[in-house]
Amino acid sequence: MKIYSALSLSILVASIMLSHSNSNKCYAFSIREASIDDLRTAFNQKQLTSTQLVDFYLEEIRNLNPILKGVIEVNPDALLQARKADEERKVKKLDSLSALHGIPILLKDNIATNDKLNTTAGSFALLGSVVPRDAGVVKKLRKAGAVILGKASMSEWANFRSYNAPNGWSARGGLGKNPYNLSADPCGSSSGSAISVAANMAAVSLGTETDGSILCPSGFNAVVGIKPTIGLTSRAGVIPISPRQDTIGPICRTVSDAVYVLDAIVGFDYNDEEATRKASNYIPHGGYAQFLKADGLNGKRLGIVRNPFFKFEENPVAKAFEHHLLTLRKKGAVLVEIDDDKASLDYNSSAEETALLAEFKIYLNTYLKELIASPVRSLADVIAFNEKSPDLEMTKQYGQEVFLAAEATNGIGNSEKEARKNLGKLSRNGFKKLMRQYKLDALVAARYDVASVLAIGGFPGIIVPAAYDSKGVPIGICFGGLKGTEPKLIEIAYSFEQATKIRKPPTFLH
Ligand SMILES: *[C@@H]1O[C@H](CO)[C@@H](O)[C@H](O)[C@H]1NC(C)=O
Ligand SMILES: *[C@@H]1O[C@H](CO)[C@@H](O)[C@H](O)[C@H]1NC(C)=O
Ligand SMILES: *[C@@H]1O[C@H](CO)[C@@H](O)[C@H](O)[C@H]1NC(C)=O
Repeated sequence: MKIYSALSLSILVASIMLSHSNSNKCYAFSIREASIDDLRTAFNQKQLTSTQLVDFYLEEIRNLNPILKGVIEVNPDALLQARKADEERKVKKLDSLSALHGIPILLKDNIATNDKLNTTAGSFALLGSVVPRDAGVVKKLRKAGAVILGKASMSEWANFRSYNAPNGWSARGGLGKNPYNLSADPCGSSSGSAISVAANMAAVSLGTETDGSILCPSGFNAVVGIKPTIGLTSRAGVIPISPRQDTIGPICRTVSDAVYVLDAIVGFDYNDEEATRKASNYIPHGGYAQFLKADGLNGKRLGIVRNPFFKFEENPVAKAFEHHLLTLRKKGAVLVEIDDDKASLDYNSSAEETALLAEFKIYLNTYLKELIASPVRSLADVIAFNEKSPDLEMTKQYGQEVFLAAEATNGIGNSEKEARKNLGKLSRNGFKKLMRQYKLDALVAARYDVASVLAIGGFPGIIVPAAYDSKGVPIGICFGGLKGTEPKLIEIAYSFEQATKIRKPPTFLH
């Protein structure tokens, strides 16, 4: 889909580059590509304030967002929160402040905030709706002292409205662009979160995943995504698809940034009681940052199933990944090559769809009923809304067949039960069995290709930048593990990242 002519696009890109070289001169300290550790050091050495940091990102959003469309709303209170953080830093002991104190974070637009920001999943249908409270993860972020910078754009309704809409598109947000190649797919559905941190429009961000929605856009935008074990992070106050598969996780430029965010958002939440209580048992004493070890690959057993998880269209990319396997080995990992036909990592998309469609209707209707005020109160209302202006044109273009299929379901009946059983069996006889049989710490996969296998079982995964293709589009490497194995995955991902350092800032090709 071409929106700009080649000429106007190149003028826009040129002006982006120009504004880039200018805006960094304002501060002694370079904010672009700075990690949380860098920012905290700059805070502590009084080279930087949260207010300056928010100013910087607001300026970048003004410059870049008209093209990239990664941000859907800016928080009118972001500067106020930053000033408060600056004041607190003056009077409190620095080591008593959390890693996220004064750090601006962007939230995917399906994560509720009880403030001036809207929570709409990119849809006009929810514009002006009033949520009963902050999402569970937002409560924890505020407690940690993070600055809520705004909401990130996303594939509308987390890709659950229509199969025809392009990734990163929503009626409210427009079409999100991949900052590495503006003509390329940014992937979704947490597209805006990945685009925005990749392009330095925010320090860190949160995304959500039901099947691939953190891992895929993170890979396509050269950032790090953590898809936590189901229930490790509260889903309360997040516009749902299905609590059986939904999870909330960080999308950041580095593994350590993502881990600091993870540390802030994990844990029990009364409003997502059962799942968060159960998963709380996985949280290690002292949190996750202790697993940021440069030698974290030493002794790890990593499974490689070449077909389908290590196949490449381009030779240089294949070579880059072969080189990565060497690096993993050099850092002390044991690579376990597993015969394709012994892996049986089948995944049944029809069973997943059967279960998700019925679950979506149930949980979306519950979410909409609990809103304090809302233009729509049920999936049926949303469907009707999409048939009227301002959404009618969008509906004509992209349809809403997923909504219609979900609306046609009638609770969890025999076919849904059968489908869930089927998915459970696939996880048990597939991924779980493989991990145990070969005593693996993680399965390694190129891109996000293992996302569905992880999704249906509620398993965690981390994706790290690994390569760029001939069109300049980033490609990630993904490490997936059994439930609760985030500590191991973090050791592996951090050690890989430190040994390779593939991430580079956006190139704005087109
Ligand atoms: C939220 O949406 C309303 C329209 O209903 C708009 O007036 C307001 O500016 C939006 N909030 C933000 C922070 O953009
Ligand atoms: C996939 O799931 C569907 C729906 O549950 C089921 O009818 C079908 O037999 C399954 N296919 C395989 C190959 O297991
Ligand atoms: C950017 O991506 C488009 C679409 O895939 C491709 O046609 C184009 O060649 C790429 N640009 C560069 C500079 O590689």
